[in-house]
Amino acid sequence: MRILGIETSCDETAVAIVEDGHQVLSNVISSQMAKHAQFGGVIPELAAREHLIAIDHVVEQALKDANCTLDDINAVAATQTPGLLPALLVGLSYGKGLAASRQLPFIGINHFLAHIYGAFIEQPNQLKPECYPAIALIVSGGHTAIIKINRDGSCELVGQTLDDAAGEAFDKAAKILNLPYPGGPVIDSLAKEGDPKTIQFPRALCGAGGTPLKPENRYNFSFSGVKTSLLYAVKGYENLGNLDMEVNFEDTELCNIAASYQESIVDVLVKKTLWAAKDYNANQIVMCGGVACNSRLRSKMQVAAEEFEVPLVIAPPKYCTDNAAMIAGLAWSYLKNDDVQDWSADAVPRLGLLKRIPFVKNA
Ligand code: KG4
Ligand code: ZN
Repeated sequence: MRILGIETSCDETAVAIVEDGHQVLSNVISSQMAKHAQFGGVIPELAAREHLIAIDHVVEQALKDANCTLDDINAVAATQTPGLLPALLVGLSYGKGLAASRQLPFIGINHFLAHIYGAFIEQPNQLKPECYPAIALIVSGGHTAIIKINRDGSCELVGQTLDDAAGEAFDKAAKILNLPYPGGPVIDSLAKEGDPKTIQFPRALCGAGGTPLKPENRYNFSFSGVKTSLLYAVKGYENLGNLDMEVNFEDTELCNIAASYQESIVDVLVKKTLWAAKDYNANQIVMCGGVACNSRLRSKMQVAAEEFEVPLVIAPPKYCTDNAAMIAGLAWSYLKNDDVQDWSADAVPRLGLLKRIPFVKNA
């Protein structure tokens, strides 16, 4: 079964063709980042207009890369929720229109769930029932959450951010440091040249300094405080990055600040995920979403999972940030069960409560 998947929930126009959920025949991404960079964040209406301009071309390219035509496509899927409403509407309407015109089934996809699926595209064996219960850390620009996935595919929200998402914390820090958008990748690169021990940024909701942690916040996150600490830490520091100039990787002070800031976010993400994995006797840890590209997070989570002797599945970087392979791949789980939608499927900007992971093997 070949599914054409469309992703337009934020600032990437992405189309992929995936066979039977795991064989990625094409995965095309047209990024609008440069357009939004001048504003330091994504402008929803601009994103929608750019999706409209790009989508036909991106679909054509995805078909070409997969060496097929629309006649070879068995179903169409598109991101339905969550995301920026004007942006979601473009891909969803396009997908429904394409499916209707070709009389194909249509599947609306939950982007958050698709990020989790991204970890399994190349690792279908990790979907076996014995890999569960699993603890999944989903870290992106819009979300930071820990989910417990049970053997039967049911799932529970274990913890989430009370304010900013981890990706947002990187992006806002970049703004403070006069670095380009999105902040995650550039801070990751600068941090490689810096010393993470230079500044001790706070580790929020971790019960540090002998303070007992409120049980209800054991798995929750808060990243707005660390951003404020950064603001104070850089006060008086004149030689920050400059948006109009190339990032200066030889600026030791900037590299040290980036490394220290990144470390405070990574520490908390690793610590809380491991707490959850231990407390819930997880047989597997899963990590996905844009921030899961972070090199320090990947290596620290790997070390922690090895210490705890629990297998770790991290989405490959190409399936961490927004892409349509995860959309088309996840859609297969629904198509197999004839769980498709009619034309009334509408875009929903806010995420509904996750109840079930449809791709766990005996779910
Ligand atoms: O999953 P994603 O592409 O979009 C959302 O669904 O939000 O995630 C984008 C986020 C941005 O905040 C970006 O700064 C962050 O992922 N990100 C990173 C890295 N690469 C992307 N954060 C830290 N380190 C990275 N290497
Ligand atoms: Zn995403």
